[in-house]
Amino acid sequence: MGVNLQVNVGGLIMKNPVTVASGTFAYGQEYDQYFDIAQLGAVTVKSLSIQPRAGNRPPRLVETPAGMLNAIGLQNVGIDAYLRDKLPYLREKGCTIIGNIYGHAPEEYAELARRLEAENGADAIEANLSCPNVHDARTVRGGALVAQAPERVAEYTRAIKAATKLPVFVKLTPNIIDIVEPALAAQEAGADGVALINTLLGMGINPETRRPILRNIVGGLSGPAIRPVALKMVWDAAKHLRIPIIGMGGICSAADAMQFILAGATAVAVGSYSFRQPDAALRVIQGLEAYCQRHQVEDIRQLIGAMEA
Ligand SMILES: Cc1cc2nc3c(=O)[nH]c(=O)nc-3n(C[C@H](O)[C@H](O)[C@H](O)COP(=O)(O)O)c2cc1C
Repeated sequence: MGVNLQVNVGGLIMKNPVTVASGTFAYGQEYDQYFDIAQLGAVTVKSLSIQPRAGNRPPRLVETPAGMLNAIGLQNVGIDAYLRDKLPYLREKGCTIIGNIYGHAPEEYAELARRLEAENGADAIEANLSCPNVHDARTVRGGALVAQAPERVAEYTRAIKAATKLPVFVKLTPNIIDIVEPALAAQEAGADGVALINTLLGMGINPETRRPILRNIVGGLSGPAIRPVALKMVWDAAKHLRIPIIGMGGICSAADAMQFILAGATAVAVGSYSFRQPDAALRVIQGLEAYCQRHQVEDIRQLIGAMEA
């Protein structure tokens, strides 16, 4: 039986619902030796900023039970080097690209979105309003992430939407009581989708040295440990949103991805697990197709939000 895996995420056509989580797949090329990355529904690139960023000093990545803590601090090559050195490879391969962006103010996000559209650098924009690992007075006003304040989510979303015709997805933080509020704020401000979730704040201390495990002290927890939290947030948001959701958080297999789709995600992203199994996202695509065949579902869209409670 032929299965349709194609989905439309707020105007972005993906040939299957599987992308990779920003920051876990660099700019794609490194993974192309493990599988043909053009088979992905989309490649989501590492957060891009206007200036290159070196990120935080190590140790900035540690394993935890069923996951990892990272405090990379948005290390990236910057928009110029991305467009010049990274983009041609992705375009030659025919990849669909989600350009994840990060800035210090709405104007910077707008500028990044404008450049990505003008230079064919992405097919959709994902605005990272939720990175926990940057100490920046303007971003972390009073210690808060943009995505923790619904009115700021709306302000940033409006600025980005005014700057581009590309679909705009807003990436939100789980470090909040009710995910529905910022998600609705993004929707009302014109977002074409939301990406849920970024990492959960966490930390570790080495009791022998009495020193923090991460130099940054605090980092973001990802991996299977956060999957139930992420799934519940996707389910909560899906009940209230008209716009599509890209679900992520601990997805390692097609069975994990199916949970997010059944909870209401239109697309899913494989994140940290690509570090353990570089072709994990490809296996998820194959597994979703096999699932549909096994359950005699001709179109994966029939399964979005189809949990039977
Ligand atoms: C090492 C690392 C770097 C990350 N960098 C970014 C980033 O640059 N931008 C972003 O929006 N999210 C970033 N994330 C968050 C992931 O995209 C994803 O939201 C999160 O890890 C949950 O998915 P997972 O549990 O499958 O890893 C990063 C995560 C990890 C583990």
